[in-house]
Amino acid sequence: MTFGVVCVSDRCSKGVCEDKSGPLISEMLSTLGKTEKYVLVPDEKEEIEKVLINLCDDVKVNVIFTTGGTGFSPRDITPEATKAVIEKDVPGIAEAIRQKSLEITEKAMLSRAVSGIRKNSLIINLPGSPKAVKEALEVVIPVLPHAVEVLSGNTLNCGGNY
Ligand code: MTE
Repeated sequence: MTFGVVCVSDRCSKGVCEDKSGPLISEMLSTLGKTEKYVLVPDEKEEIEKVLINLCDDVKVNVIFTTGGTGFSPRDITPEATKAVIEKDVPGIAEAIRQKSLEITEKAMLSRAVSGIRKNSLIINLPGSPKAVKEALEVVIPVLPHAVEVLSGNTLNCGGNY
C-alpha cells in the first residue's frame, strides 16, 4: 500500500511551527505501507487541489491523508479543495470518523472533513491536531486493506465476508 500525506497549514508550510501530525500519520501507517510523498501546503484552495491531483494522477498513491484545515477558522478550506478534485464521494469514512470521535469529544462535530475517490486513489481528510489524527486513524486503519484492494479492482474477497 502506498500513501501520500498532506499537512495543510499556513504556519507549518512557512516553517513557523513544526508539523507533528504528518509524521504521526506516516508512523501509524508504517506497518501497512510506505509514505511515498509528504507535502506541506498553506491553506490555499488551488494549491491544495494541485497537490491532491499530483498525488492521485502522477504519483498514483493508494490513499492520501490530509491533516488540518477542516474546521471553522476563516482560512480552513481543505474539505472544499478535496470536494473539487474527487470524482466519487465516500461519506461513510467521514461519518465513521465523526461518530467514533464524538464518543471522545463533542468538539468532533466541528470538523467538516470529507472523504472521496479520484481515479484509483482514496482521499481522507483528518483534523489537524495529533490527538485527533490518532483517534481518527484508529477508526480507519482496520478498513484500509480491503478499501485499497477493492479500489484496485480486486473484489474477490468481498462476497465471502457477507
Ligand atoms: N476529532 C477527534 N477525534 N479528536 C479531537 O480532539 N478535535 C476537533 C475536531 N475533530 C478533535 C476532532 C476540533 S477541536 C476541531 S476545531 C476540528 O476537529 C477541526 O480541526 P482542524 O481545523 O484542525 O482540521
